Amino acid sequence: MTQDIAQRIAALADELEEHLYRYHVLDAPTISDQEFDRLLTELQTLEEAHPALKQPDSPTQRVGGTPTSDFPTVRHARPMLSLDNSYSSQDVEDFDRRVRQSLPDEAVEYVFELKIDGVALSLIYQDSVLVRAVTRGDGVQGDEITANARTIPTIPLRLRQPGIDCEIRGEVYMESSDFAQLNAQREADEEPLFANPRNSTAGSLKLQNPNLVAKRNLRFFAYWIHAEGGNQTRHSECLETLRAWGLMVPEHQRCASLADVFEHYDHYAAARADLPYEIDGVVIKVDSLNQQERLGYTAKSPRSAMAYKFPAYQARTRLLDIHLQVGRTGAVTPVAILEPVPLAGSTIARASLHNADEIRRKDIRIGDTVLIEKGGDVIPKVVEVDLSARPDDSVEYSFPNQCPSCKSPLTRDAEEAVARCDNLTCPAQLRRRLEHFASRNAMDIEGLGPAVVEQLVEQGLVKDLSDLYELDVASLGALERMGEKSAQNLLDGLARSKEQPFDRVLFALGIRHVGATVARTLARTFVSLDALCKASVEELEATHEIGPTIARSLYASLPDLPALDRMLYKLKNKAKLQFKMKAEEAAAPPSHFSGKTVVITGTLSGYSRDEAAALIESLGGKTTSSVSKNTDLLIAGEKAGSKLAKAQALDVAVLDEAAFIAQLQEAGVA
Ligand code: IVH
Repeated sequence: MTQDIAQRIAALADELEEHLYRYHVLDAPTISDQEFDRLLTELQTLEEAHPALKQPDSPTQRVGGTPTSDFPTVRHARPMLSLDNSYSSQDVEDFDRRVRQSLPDEAVEYVFELKIDGVALSLIYQDSVLVRAVTRGDGVQGDEITANARTIPTIPLRLRQPGIDCEIRGEVYMESSDFAQLNAQREADEEPLFANPRNSTAGSLKLQNPNLVAKRNLRFFAYWIHAEGGNQTRHSECLETLRAWGLMVPEHQRCASLADVFEHYDHYAAARADLPYEIDGVVIKVDSLNQQERLGYTAKSPRSAMAYKFPAYQARTRLLDIHLQVGRTGAVTPVAILEPVPLAGSTIARASLHNADEIRRKDIRIGDTVLIEKGGDVIPKVVEVDLSARPDDSVEYSFPNQCPSCKSPLTRDAEEAVARCDNLTCPAQLRRRLEHFASRNAMDIEGLGPAVVEQLVEQGLVKDLSDLYELDVASLGALERMGEKSAQNLLDGLARSKEQPFDRVLFALGIRHVGATVARTLARTFVSLDALCKASVEELEATHEIGPTIARSLYASLPDLPALDRMLYKLKNKAKLQFKMKAEEAAAPPSHFSGKTVVITGTLSGYSRDEAAALIESLGGKTTSSVSKNTDLLIAGEKAGSKLAKAQALDVAVLDEAAFIAQLQEAGVA
């Protein structure tokens, strides 16, 4: 029986992997998505019923494993070097000359390959099974992100040839359309946008939750192998081998001469806008592995290869004006208003000017002819001014010292180049804050769009968020184009919004760094805004998916949230917002862990630490990584060391694994 099941599991795994390969690598699927899902569900069900039979290379792993709190650091077997790079054809000719001089009287052939603008990754296969994936890191050691790599369909979990021990390197990337879709979603969720596909790839690979990585549509091109006893003699053969093993390789050509290289370069410089992914140049590699070996390495890069980069997309146009935008947190950013100009497939009418320092440094003036550039980033920037075209009557731009909306003096933090309007009642800020508060992913208040917001602010009907809840049919009647019916709709929308759960309220408040995801995480962990405001940096940092950078900036911004306490008081007491807390909503049963701060240490035989932490959190507890006087409980597995000693010294209650499991059983989760 078990034998049959094991065979069925293996057959399903093989079949699913084959279909993934046909779909993602060959782009030639032979079954429908529905049929595929049916096979996957069958495999999942069998594996759940028989966990011992689950294979490490099972395609179900691709859906995403358990979240981790930290990536282990792993040393690379050989350093991951970078490539010497240049934008100039002269440098390419010099490179060719050096190569030929080092290999006198030998024929040299090159492979011309696309340089994918992504993130380098090293994959370790043992007996053809993917066992480890490590980021480049500092070149010597990187982060082990195997669970995340397994979610990438073009990374084979098992090579299509048996018995291979090897390391494969390549580039993880995101297609431009997937990137655009991701950013559109983030914009809707009011989360910070990624500047380019490379950043979104790097950000995705660093997510602690492989389930989320699986949704990011990452892909992989392999460009290098090191296999014990490999019999390839040329780089071009390595690429063929990689392909035969089931990987995708970058577009490439063998070139007998430098003239060939330049011809291909020119072709791709023009064709790159039509590729579904971004390339930032091409790579030229000596084809013979033996010659590569003899050419050797400098401290940073191989002497047998170089990157020949493409120039950024640029255009020249006139700067018509500089607008200042006031964000909902008061940041004032200058934007260049341009005479519309076509660039890399779109028409550009605005460009980023970053801040006052940048404008001064580049001496950018209204009326100037400017060079704009679209690097890898979505938003073009002003690179330089064409001084030869500057009008005689041009005057230096002086950055206003007043808010364009409320005329309060602008301030600047010593560390930040950003100018800010600190007036909490600034109409522009208030408008942005209200728009955000009402938006779909925040309080989702129907009928409260930008036009209504503008009137409410202009007429002085709403001076802060809580005033929204004091509106009535009579006061709304004063607004233009607002009939009784739409007034009632808006009031109904407001009434409904009082039921929104705490994480939505938290997100809706528009606190810096608190996007929808962070708000959800915070709401899960801290249960009330009061508890959140009292949290220490360490507690914030210890929260899953928050990370030290957000934790620090969040901590810094919490105390001076725009009159947060007052606002909450008003929202709660005056507007009678219900602040449904996630914990109440989920109705976590009271347990030994409810409301407790728990630290897990040592090795548990039945659970990984992350699993244990997830269980504790599902029972209303909170886990942190270090023992302090705020710790309520220590779960001590085998070989618990200094944390156990510290907990005992601080009189913190300690549970061993058996007692921990007993409590889980009592709560009905073990
Ligand atoms: S070969 C010694 N080939 O560009 C490094 N790299 O600094 C050998 N890249 O970190 C790299 N496409 O992440 C190679 N076809 C390609 C590539 C490629 C992108 C990246 C790689 C590397 C960086 C060069």
